[in-house]
Amino acid sequence: MTLYLPKDSAALALGADEVAAALTREASARGVALRLIRTGSRGMVWLEPLLEIERDGVRHGFGPLEVSDVTNLFENRFRHHPKALGPVEAIPFLARQTRLTFARCGVIDPLDLDAYRAHGGLRGLERARDMAPAEIVAEVTASGLRGRGGAGFPTGIKWKTVLEAEGPQKHIVCNADEGDSGTFADRMLMEGDPFCLIEGMAIAGLAVGASRGHVYCRSEYPHAIRTFGAALDVSRGAGLLGRGFDIELRVGAGSYVCGEETALLNSMEGKRGTVRAKPPLPAHKGFMGRPTVVNNVISLASVPVILAEGAEVYKSFGLGRSLGTVPLQIAGNVKHGGLFEAAFGMTIRELIEDVCGGTASGRPVKAVQIGGPLGAYFPVSLFDTPLGYEECDAAGGLIGHAGIVVFDDSADMGRMARFAMEFCAVESCGTCTPCRIGAVRGMETIDRILAGDPAAPAILADLCETMRDGSLCALGGFTPYPVESALRHFPEDFMARQEAAE
Ligand code: NAI
Ligand code: SF4
Repeated sequence: MTLYLPKDSAALALGADEVAAALTREASARGVALRLIRTGSRGMVWLEPLLEIERDGVRHGFGPLEVSDVTNLFENRFRHHPKALGPVEAIPFLARQTRLTFARCGVIDPLDLDAYRAHGGLRGLERARDMAPAEIVAEVTASGLRGRGGAGFPTGIKWKTVLEAEGPQKHIVCNADEGDSGTFADRMLMEGDPFCLIEGMAIAGLAVGASRGHVYCRSEYPHAIRTFGAALDVSRGAGLLGRGFDIELRVGAGSYVCGEETALLNSMEGKRGTVRAKPPLPAHKGFMGRPTVVNNVISLASVPVILAEGAEVYKSFGLGRSLGTVPLQIAGNVKHGGLFEAAFGMTIRELIEDVCGGTASGRPVKAVQIGGPLGAYFPVSLFDTPLGYEECDAAGGLIGHAGIVVFDDSADMGRMARFAMEFCAVESCGTCTPCRIGAVRGMETIDRILAGDPAAPAILADLCETMRDGSLCALGGFTPYPVESALRHFPEDFMARQEAAE
């Protein structure tokens, strides 16, 4: 009997290893020959640990499983069970997705290279090997792929800059320092389908003429680090890495700002993780002063499917200038949260109300924060905004790394605005004044607003303008997004305490 059970961090946190041990024990007690394949996660966190069994080529699911469910599962021969979910791919949350980048995540053993190949892996790299570097770059440019780390810069144009730059050695740096609150796509991909990232980096290496790849992963991701490290070993053993292109895995030390590309490069070079002024761009002078592609995990992991299926197929998904798919990560106070890969263009309302079923508390949704701690709060009145780069921008926010945190009507947006300034003050690298000093003054000024000081709102507006226009990087420059959106859309949360103080 073959069963599939995730080994992803979220599933482990919810007891997947204990369920695995119980399955093995029960099978052995009953004399059943069990093959238990540990997979990544399908991304339906509320169903974890999600056990799957294949019947007639269809995977049937059971979840969220507990150890106490296991005996009953065997007794019913994995058919009738209170936690039976039916065919996994028919579960609406999964059925409504367009899984291109995450197609194998939750399906295969992440370290089984044969399974990776059997599920479409390596086709992109094989095609790229028969192409000239400029042709690969042109294909990625034509696909419309934009940086999924948050900034949305066209990946093909970045690669073209590096291809055309002069340098004795070029580098591919993968940014896996996924620091945005409420985001986990990079982690899930590295834990569930690490060969996809390796393949994407190998293609990037061929495209720009780089022989060295580096993955900079945050230390808070021990399972991703372990799985990705093991996948590198398997890849070297299979001859996928080593000759011509190799990848090293570097682990950060827990600083949010090291996710900013120049701070990341400083950290990789053994320096303090502070932000460098641009220019020069990393594409011209990056790691050790050499031409460097710095791309997010999801940008690189989207490349294999683009090369395998062709740019036309990839760009047939999406909306306007936001082409292809985006792994939306839904967290916070939400009934059905997790990873939802969809073509750009779905509205916030469709996602939160139809797909995710509203809040976990059952209370009305008050707001969603999109794009991490530096993203804007969207009130329900803006929920018809389509999820796309330009569309979110036009509504006063950003899609960023596509983390979406849901709040119900008990959330205090005055407190959230203050938290944004506090976060900036704590994580600031200290290089520039608007961020280093501005964030501290910002906390004090929000306190004054909440205490009813009539002069404080104008000071805060001025401060936000200074931070936005004068900061060296997005940490200081984007902190005004959550602060100003909270003030604009939820003024009553700032008034309430003023009135209480009076
Ligand atoms: P940016 O707009 O300065 O640059 C975007 C990228 O394009 C960079 O890699 C830059 O080097 C490159 N680039 C720009 N012009 C180029 C050219 N002519 N040729 C080649 N490359 C060029 O944005 P930045 O500061 O890199 O990123 C900010 C974003 O990061 C924000 O939008 C935010 O959403 C996101 N972010 C993501 C986090 C995460 O956990 N993934 C955490 C914090 C912020
Ligand atoms: Fe450092 Fe903040 Fe300036 Fe960015 S904005 S360089 S984090 S001080």
